[in-house]
Parts: sequence; structure tokens; C-alpha cells
Amino acid sequence: MQTRLLGRNGPQVSALGLGCMGMSAFYGAHDDAESIATIHHALERGLNLLDTADMYGPHTNEVLVGKAIKGRREQAFVATKFGIVLDPGNPQARGIDGRPDYVRAACDASLKRLGIDTIDLYYQHRVDPSVPIEDTVGAMAELVTAGKVRYLGLSEASGATLERACKVHPIAALQSEFSLWTRDPQENGMLAACRRLGVSLVAYSPLGRGFLTGAIRTPDDFEADDYRRHSPRFMGDNFDRNLQLVEKVKTLAADKGCSPAQLALAWVLAQGDDVLAIPGTRKRSRLDENLGALQVRLRDDELTAIDAVFSPGAVAGQRYTGAGMHMVNV
Ligand SMILES: NC(=O)c1ccc[n+]([C@@H]2O[C@H](COP(=O)([O-])OP(=O)(O)OC[C@H]3O[C@@H](n4cnc5c(N)ncnc54)[C@H](OP(=O)(O)O)[C@@H]3O)[C@@H](O)[C@H]2O)c1
Repeated sequence: MQTRLLGRNGPQVSALGLGCMGMSAFYGAHDDAESIATIHHALERGLNLLDTADMYGPHTNEVLVGKAIKGRREQAFVATKFGIVLDPGNPQARGIDGRPDYVRAACDASLKRLGIDTIDLYYQHRVDPSVPIEDTVGAMAELVTAGKVRYLGLSEASGATLERACKVHPIAALQSEFSLWTRDPQENGMLAACRRLGVSLVAYSPLGRGFLTGAIRTPDDFEADDYRRHSPRFMGDNFDRNLQLVEKVKTLAADKGCSPAQLALAWVLAQGDDVLAIPGTRKRSRLDENLGALQVRLRDDELTAIDAVFSPGAVAGQRYTGAGMHMVNV
């Protein structure tokens, strides 16, 4: 398994992780048995970075991951997140809590659900603008001292916030959406800040929430409660315009002799040795396909051709609704 250094001083983790979110939330029906088999298969293949969060389910995804790693703890590098608070009465609404007391309670609850003594990588899921980042990261640093957490991360934090956080405690990873159709970390200074500060970038939704694989042909492919039905890039005309980009990805992938999913992942991994990707899947067969991306090496001319498809303005729609966009790059 190819590994990459997380943060300036390690540890080494698999270059491709496994996003576990869709196993319990947002993307339609769940099959816990196949999901657990997928996690086991990943660990057997040497993929150790498992990504979850307390709000996936909510809570049930951490329980699922905990069940899957029981008896295999030493093979897994478990990353989870705190800080997004769901409203049971409104599935689309999101609150954010970064208060130190909340951080401590959230960590204890995640440890319990996961059934482990230490979280390998603990992320703040979204920056709470009402709490100084120094206070939140200060509380996270105390969790490291207490042995409850090994490494710290932030998600969707701006370069300026990351810089302040790093003054309190080393940050090993910044998680952000990053893919062929989401170039924000390159455009808003986040990736540059990561490089300056020795922080790895962990790319989430590297398959464009499945869209870049070519497997999604119409909005009807989504189940009734699928989150993507409410996501701007998958709605109305945007869907059709973006599908035209995916057709081009399919052609480039065919030329390269790989699948569109592998091309999309290989592009992310080609952005630097300090970039990792955590594609999500609930199925062993797709996990194997996605791991095949580690064998795909893109030449400079191929990277240029891919970038030409996703030139500025080519993608229709923002990656989140307006409310969601206010919670990123904070
Ligand atoms: N920090 C954050 O705010 C944040 C936000 C979103 C996600 N994340 C993390 O990032 C992980 C990955 O992101 P994501 O799950 O949103 O999106 P993604 O990895 O871009 O795509 C996942 C989707 O693609 C499908 N898929 C996977 N491999 C495929 C293949 N080879 N061919 C066809 N379809 C394929 C999956 O369906 P199947 O399951 O049916 O294969 C799923 O619907 C999540 O699991 C989560 O851990 C973090």
C-alpha cells in the first residue's frame, strides 16, 4: 500500500483512505453487512485511514466503524470529527459548536461509540465563528495530553484560521472538498497555507460525491432521501451541464485505460505528496476499483488535458447551498 506522511512529522497513513459516511447517511439505503465487509477488505488490503464523524447517521456511522474495527484496532487509523450539530426537526439545517466543553463531551461520546481508547485523528468538522479557534484547538490539545486523541485536524478552515490553530498545537491534516470539480483549496489559499505550515490536505468527496465516476446518469438515480437531490450541482440544468463534463472525463479515462473514478482519484493524488484522498464507498468491488487509482500515473500533458475540461466557470452550481458555503473557508 502506498503511504503518505500526515503532517510534518507523520504518521504514515495509506494514500487513499476510506470515507465511511455513505455507509450510514446521505447517499441512500444502507447495507451494514456489506459496509463492514468493505471496511474489513480495506484493512486487509493495507488501507488504514478510515474516515467518519459523529454527525454521520447521526452517530450510527461511528458505531458501525467501531463494530468493524473490533479485534482489528491495530490495523486501522481512525479519523472522526465533531462540531456539526444536526436539528432532528430539519434534516437540511446545520449548527456548529466549537466551545471547549462541547469538544470534551463530543470526544468522550465518539470514543464510546467507536469502542476505542484513542482517536487517531480528531477533526473540528467546521470552524465555529463564535468561538476563537485558539479556544477550540486548546481544548483539542488537552485531549492529546489526556491520551484520548493522537493527532489534530480541521475541516474547511481557511488558511488564516489554520495558521492561528497551528500556533496552539500542531495540526496534522486539513480536510476539504477537493476534486476535479472542486478546486477551492488551490484557489483560496488553503493548500498554500497547508504547505507553509506542514499540514497535509485530506481531500473529501474526491469522486464529486459519485458524479465524476459516470455512474450517475439522471437525478432519478438518487433515492428519495438522498442528500444530493438538494445539492446545487445535482439540480436542474446544472446536472445536465455537469454531465457533459463527466462525458469528457470518461473519454480521457478510456484513453488512459482506466476507469473515470480512477482518473479522478489519480488526479487528486497527483497534486502533491502532501495530498491524500478519502473516497467513499459501501461496496468491496468499488473499493478495489478505487484502489486501482494508485497504479495510475498521470503525465503532465494528461493533467493539462484534464484541467482543460474543468477550466474556470466550467462547473455549473456551487458545491453547497448558500448556507453550506457560509460554513467553509472560515
Ligand atoms: N469534512 C467534511 O465536511 C466531509 C464532507 C463530505 C464527505 N466527507 C468524508 O469524505 C468521504 C468521501 O466523500 P463522499 O462520500 O461525500 O464522496 P465521494 O467519495 O466523492 O463519492 C462517494 C460516492 O461515490 C460512489 N462511488 C464510490 N466509488 C465508486 C466507483 N468506483 N464507481 C461508481 N461510484 C462510486 C459511492 O457510492 P457507493 O457507496 O454505492 O459505492 C458514493 O455514492 C465521506 O465518506 C466522508 O467520510 C467529509
